[in-house]
Amino acid sequence: MTSVPATFKALRIHQVDKKTEARLEAITLSDLSAGQVVIRVAYSSINYKDALAVTGKGKIMRGYPKVAGIDLSGTVVSSEVPDYKPGDAVVVTGGNVGEVFDGGFAEYARVPAEAVVPLPPGLSLHEAMALGTAGYTAALALRRMLENHQTPDLGPIAVTGPTGGVGSIAIALFKRAGFTVAAITGKPGAEKYLRDLGADEIVDRNTLDVGSKPLETARWGGAVDNLGGDTLAYLTRTVKPWGTIGAIGLAQAPTLSTTVIPFILRGVSLLGIWSVECPRSWRLAIWDRLAGDWKPNGLTTLIAPRTVTLDDVPAVAEELVAGKAQGRVVVRIGSDL
Ligand SMILES: NC(=O)c1ccc[n+]([C@@H]2O[C@H](COP(=O)([O-])OP(=O)(O)OC[C@H]3O[C@@H](n4cnc5c(N)ncnc54)[C@H](OP(=O)(O)O)[C@@H]3O)[C@@H](O)[C@H]2O)c1
Repeated sequence: MTSVPATFKALRIHQVDKKTEARLEAITLSDLSAGQVVIRVAYSSINYKDALAVTGKGKIMRGYPKVAGIDLSGTVVSSEVPDYKPGDAVVVTGGNVGEVFDGGFAEYARVPAEAVVPLPPGLSLHEAMALGTAGYTAALALRRMLENHQTPDLGPIAVTGPTGGVGSIAIALFKRAGFTVAAITGKPGAEKYLRDLGADEIVDRNTLDVGSKPLETARWGGAVDNLGGDTLAYLTRTVKPWGTIGAIGLAQAPTLSTTVIPFILRGVSLLGIWSVECPRSWRLAIWDRLAGDWKPNGLTTLIAPRTVTLDDVPAVAEELVAGKAQGRVVVRIGSDL
């Protein structure tokens, strides 16, 4: 049985003179926050939130020093709860890991049992991190929008921030679920990538006329929004009657300036999508779908072709906060078994 070595490698965020510093350092198990399950980490991934935490561009961490990384996959070393035994393959996304609790950018993690999901059959540890919080969140949006009666006949789904992690997987998921998908991107040069994912239409966000009237010509059956700000306001004005907007992110701005008109004169719904503290039954069901009929094609080749090491994380984090990254980036930390 594997045991935890006296020291292991971790990317920890420190705060010095009110500035954050990411340090690759040797730590011990007792340095980690309390939790019932100790995991030998095989892979992690870099989400927008991780990029904010590592670069210090956003306040993500509750307390310092703390290991960053909101996602991890790996094998259980020990568990204080009967649901997990040593050697079990598991996935952790969200659950306040990498924010309140120490996270996945380390060779070993200790996390609350509530945050752990058994790796579903049909997914490898690597594929689980190609999906990560980004994939889980895109799937949560699909689930919530379907529950709210979003159907392909309402019209195309507009995906904003489509070259990013959540956006890329949202395109693949909605296309697979039978929807027509439009990618509203700031990188029109990424057209081939977006079409390979399944986008039927590419819209250049840089030249898009977002209008200003409470209602503009209805164009989209629904939308998955990663940007917030003016882009989300535009979507509220242009979604067709009874369409749903899944509000996921704030890569452009945390603000929303609109009127109630789209909601009361077109029946448009604005659904909040929050991946961190989902009901456990939803979490298990969504991971099963992601390993089965919702599993995107090309997960580790098209969506997450890049695998980096812990040493590379700070540089990749800078790319993400600058909006320059494409798709998902997996972090390889230990071996698969
Ligand atoms: N609600 C939740 O539970 C949840 C879960 C996961 C993520 N999120 C949020 O969802 C958003 C996307 O996350 P992610 O991990 O997919 O991030 P990401 O991989 O960095 O992708 C973000 C994408 O947004 C666009 N973008 C970036 N900066 C921008 C800017 N300043 N103005 C306009 N567009 C910009 C870019 O796409 P284009 O160039 O193609 O436009 C970029 O590729 C983030 O705000 C994140 O915090 C929320």
